[in-house]
Amino acid sequence: PPTKRFHFNVEWKKVTRLCHTKQLLTVNGQYPGPTIAVNEGDNVEITVTNSILENTTIHWHGVRQYRTAWADGPAYITQCPIKGGKSYTYKFNVVDQRGTLFWHAHYGWQRASVHGPFIIYPRLPYPFPSPFHGEIPLIFGEWWNGDADAVGSEMMRYGGGPNSSEAYTINGFPGPLYPCSSKDTFIQTVEKGKTYLLRIINAALNDELFFAVADHNLTVVEVDAAYTKPFSTPAVMVAPGQTTTVLLTTDQYPDPSGNSMFPMAITPYLTSVFPFDNSTALGFLSYEKGSANPNPNYNLKVPNLPRMSDTPFATDLSRRTRSLGSRQYPCRVPKSFDKRIIVTVSLNLQDCPSNMTCKGYNGKRYFASMNNQSFVRPLTGSVLELHYKKNLTASTDSLATNFPEQPPETFDFTGVDPLSQNMNTEFGSKVLVVPYGTNLEIVLQGTSFLNVENHPIHIHGHNFFIVGEGFGNYDPNRDPDGYNLVDPPERNTVAVPTGGWAAVRFRADNPGVWFVHCHLEVHTTWGLAMAFVVLDGPGPAQKMIPPPVDLPPC
Ligand code: C2O
Repeated sequence: PPTKRFHFNVEWKKVTRLCHTKQLLTVNGQYPGPTIAVNEGDNVEITVTNSILENTTIHWHGVRQYRTAWADGPAYITQCPIKGGKSYTYKFNVVDQRGTLFWHAHYGWQRASVHGPFIIYPRLPYPFPSPFHGEIPLIFGEWWNGDADAVGSEMMRYGGGPNSSEAYTINGFPGPLYPCSSKDTFIQTVEKGKTYLLRIINAALNDELFFAVADHNLTVVEVDAAYTKPFSTPAVMVAPGQTTTVLLTTDQYPDPSGNSMFPMAITPYLTSVFPFDNSTALGFLSYEKGSANPNPNYNLKVPNLPRMSDTPFATDLSRRTRSLGSRQYPCRVPKSFDKRIIVTVSLNLQDCPSNMTCKGYNGKRYFASMNNQSFVRPLTGSVLELHYKKNLTASTDSLATNFPEQPPETFDFTGVDPLSQNMNTEFGSKVLVVPYGTNLEIVLQGTSFLNVENHPIHIHGHNFFIVGEGFGNYDPNRDPDGYNLVDPPERNTVAVPTGGWAAVRFRADNPGVWFVHCHLEVHTTWGLAMAFVVLDGPGPAQKMIPPPVDLPPC
């Protein structure tokens, strides 16, 4: 297969939005960053040069990285960071997957601005209901007037919540609903009567987002680089870490008022009213070539946009999302499992350490955990290198204890006062170790005292199938009866319903160490993460490749 080479220079660049000019962390001076476009089967080599003083790493979100965990990117999980002035070449191939993904920095909060589309063109023709005339990548982000990375470290210093971003962005532009922003509006020119493929990526740090285009329906055809049964919807909800690819037909012009500018908008999905940013980023589809100025008579209403707390809409959307399951693309959900683990997904509160003043609820500090362990990244080396050197086994090891297979007795916190109890959470870096080829079922159980949003849980190195979802507590005796084992959606990030659960299944057939975490950056920083080790299989093609010579040292 051919090798596609790219060069990324991580560098500061002066950027102005909302009339604030600041140094923004970018790749090659671009915001959003450059698009990586490759063909299914290609070898990919991306040399990342770090031209800033701080550390960095880049993650190719959703790329399977089969046997190449060294190229996955999360700092201290699969590699030590690339230090200032140094380079590292990520080498991997894109095999057996196709569609819309993205890449982002995986160090601190750098991914706020260091992100871009990663598109894999399919080997076979698209299995879509209609051909398309052009494609439009739409990457959503957040803009802070200050330094986003500092927002993360400030938050940790004071144990409180992060400062909200000043704006959401569509392809880097907030649009005209924000102060001093109308010239920073994304406008896409389209031709009348054509069909376009919209590649929608939520690269925002901390918000799930609804997206809609005024008066146009969207036909979902793919999520997280896996084809779906096509279905039509007025809007989509995309969680951070997720991608949704839709077809849109430009059949609305001229509309009765002769308007040729149709707004597209994103607004957050929050399940309860909370004092978060509730603003809306706006862009436009323009039916007229060269009408670059949207000012005079555009219609700002996007009637298709769900309300901010529209859980029924979000639930229905995820229920309608099904694997394509065709002969060419069969749904490979494991019909049975070797191991089921129930993993609690929690936000917690803890008494403030005596040397700190905490700004969390009631003078306490916020943190988060999976299975009552608040994950701490080892800073002295990556988990993958430790594993490679010490060869962890499923039963014994000293540096990483096996992750508890079952949660403590009960994970029903009803009746407990979570605001005063610390829920026996420990801080640590335990990992789950599984033999090659294990069919895993992971039930992600939300147990937060704060139920304000879904937790988009992302698993590195594997796609998985969402076989079941529900509200309340998972019941292992009853809930599996309702599983979809025929055409469940295949994804890399699942939005675990607020106050509910999601069950995912996959074959752990990719040897290496894989990070699992909430893709809301604030929650990962608080420790809502874990890692699991897939051991080498017996065959030569079932083993991890050796570490590359330029792997950064710690
Ligand atoms: Cu897109 Cu570990 O992240």
